[in-house]
Amino acid sequence: MSEGASEAAERRRQQAELYGAPVDAIVRDVEQHVGIDSREMASVIGVSWPMFNEVLAARRVRIGNPAGIVRLGMLREFAGHLASGEADPGDINLTIAQIRSATTTEPRNLTAVADGPPRSGVGLLTKQSLSAARALVGRHVRPTPARRWPLLERITGTETWVKHENHNPTGAFKVRGGLNFVARLGQTNPELAGIITATTGNHGQSLAYAGRAHRLPVTIVVPEGNSPDKNDAMRAYGADLIVHGKDFQAALEFSRQMAAEKQLLPVPPFHPWLVEGVATYAAELHESVPAIDVIYVPVGMGSGICANIAVRDLLGLTTEIVGVVADRAPAYALSFEAGEPVATPTSDTFVDGTAVRTPDPDAVRIIRAGASRVVRVSEDQAAEAMALHYRATHNLPEPAGSLALAGCLAEKDRVAGRRVALIQTGSNCDFPVLARVMERFQN
Ligand SMILES: Cc1ncc(COP(=O)(O)O)c(C=O)c1O
Repeated sequence: MSEGASEAAERRRQQAELYGAPVDAIVRDVEQHVGIDSREMASVIGVSWPMFNEVLAARRVRIGNPAGIVRLGMLREFAGHLASGEADPGDINLTIAQIRSATTTEPRNLTAVADGPPRSGVGLLTKQSLSAARALVGRHVRPTPARRWPLLERITGTETWVKHENHNPTGAFKVRGGLNFVARLGQTNPELAGIITATTGNHGQSLAYAGRAHRLPVTIVVPEGNSPDKNDAMRAYGADLIVHGKDFQAALEFSRQMAAEKQLLPVPPFHPWLVEGVATYAAELHESVPAIDVIYVPVGMGSGICANIAVRDLLGLTTEIVGVVADRAPAYALSFEAGEPVATPTSDTFVDGTAVRTPDPDAVRIIRAGASRVVRVSEDQAAEAMALHYRATHNLPEPAGSLALAGCLAEKDRVAGRRVALIQTGSNCDFPVLARVMERFQN
């Protein structure tokens, strides 16, 4: 073998370590099963053609952008699923759009649309990927209980099952998404220097927890004035916490700048790997409670509701999935009605876990295709549901944690007598909020 050829062979070997296979082999697989050529692949993973061509020709090992490496791994995995018949060719356009927009916090538009009638579910969620996520998440998180509470059933007039995601480490369902995301990153990008995100709450705790579990450095940027309790929790899980900017937007922009400077991977609030991790609770729920008529789930950026839709569809069930938002942060309800993302100028609600102004286009598409409706509840209804939740179960809900109950009560007549599941998504309530709500509804 000439010297040049043996160097190329060594680079292909290193590529196989980094990406799971040499890049020319990945390209061949993707061409065959996904039906896009190498130039389009470069565009999907977000690197320039000259750079990608260098890697393809084994003249270099790395593509110089961590998000691109992750997207390449996703493409490879999707080609594998298509080859094994696990993924449906009808999902190709939607999945490519998801991969294109994955692992970036930049505003994004869908660049491809699904052909034919809208499909629900998440293109990347298959039986195999769900069971892989259950194995990854299950190493750190035990299945949470789904319980009936007679007192709650008297209030709702339904057979009511509460899925206690508040019993997770970090006190919220989000940890499942974080664990899956970080584990999948480790598989596709073992040399990553670290991840970064801007957050005010449970998303940050979940990534901090997952980073510690997988020994991956995590940087979290929060705006000035962020809840001291939440900051303390994120630090306690080992995150490098940076306080920057007057509001979330300023923190987000600063996190992007740091990502570029320090070669950290920015983690977006909605991503197929987060959905896949969160889907593990939906799978547990259907295993422990058969034939659920309706699931109520709060909607923030949409990972919870999309996970429920995807699992329902994967299992071939007829369960209705109903999203719940606060009236003062109605972006997803408006988007559901309009059939396209509708941003709102403010999201001024005390239900902080769902205070979203700008919906994710992929999430909107999935919710629109797979949810039955998105219910809006007032601040009073949300607060009262917190108090009722506590009274009936003595589990402490944070505002978003009792939003499912608020949604169910808002349409009590509609669901009377049916088997209903409420996702109690979390219990990380700031003390002053808790004190205000409990005092107000103490009688
Ligand atoms: C407790 C709680 N419930 C619900 C949500 C909304 O979840 P998603 O963003 O997956 O829609 C969040 C988001 O952080 C949360 O922390």
